[in-house]
Amino acid sequence: MQSADPGSFASLKFCKGLVLPSLPYALDALEPHISRNTLAVHHGQHHAAYVERTRSLVKGSDLESASVADIVRYSVTQSDRGLFNAAAQAWNHEFYWQCLRPGGGGESHGAIAQMIEDGFGSCRHFSHEFVTLAGEQFGSGWIWLVLDGGRLRITATSNAGTPLVQLQVPLLAIDVWEHAYYLDYQHRRLDYVDALLTHLIDWDFANHNLGMASVAGAQATVERQLLPRRDLGA
Ligand SMILES: [Fe+2]
Repeated sequence: MQSADPGSFASLKFCKGLVLPSLPYALDALEPHISRNTLAVHHGQHHAAYVERTRSLVKGSDLESASVADIVRYSVTQSDRGLFNAAAQAWNHEFYWQCLRPGGGGESHGAIAQMIEDGFGSCRHFSHEFVTLAGEQFGSGWIWLVLDGGRLRITATSNAGTPLVQLQVPLLAIDVWEHAYYLDYQHRRLDYVDALLTHLIDWDFANHNLGMASVAGAQATVERQLLPRRDLGA
């Protein structure tokens, strides 16, 4: 795992006060592809637990006022696996919610559309590769579209793994932990991933992230891309 420059931590602000961020849409907004029940449990219990665990681990330390991204990177420098797992999951989930929107999915558009065509041949081939990697991922994890060295790549991380601590710019992510889909899809992970790519992925968010990458270095982009936290309900 390649860590970011610890010296860049100080100015970062992502999740002030280590609070559970509100969802950028209503609990039933992603139905029928993600049910209200799944979203309520996933956000209100799983994500909330990661935030609470992070808060408890940094309580009384200088990290209390740090952003989640700062804490994730700091945990890597300290080889603190427990803190990394909690904080990275908190960050990954906040990113994931922003990757979805009602009425999303389907053909990409904007600047990323050309990059997808260049990198994967077509959006359909991109989706096929994304779903295939989701099927190959053993156990819990995340499937990402990242900018890596100026090129798009589909990558997988296990458990709490995150491109945040690598020299990659995350553009999109889909949570493939069972808690993300089991209530709605049971064991059919690929159906869940395909449904999100077809109906929910927010290409505007991917373009937002890509746009920031065009004006900043990879790490600077990662630090800024979720700043300020997007309020998609506005
Ligand atoms: Fe999750």
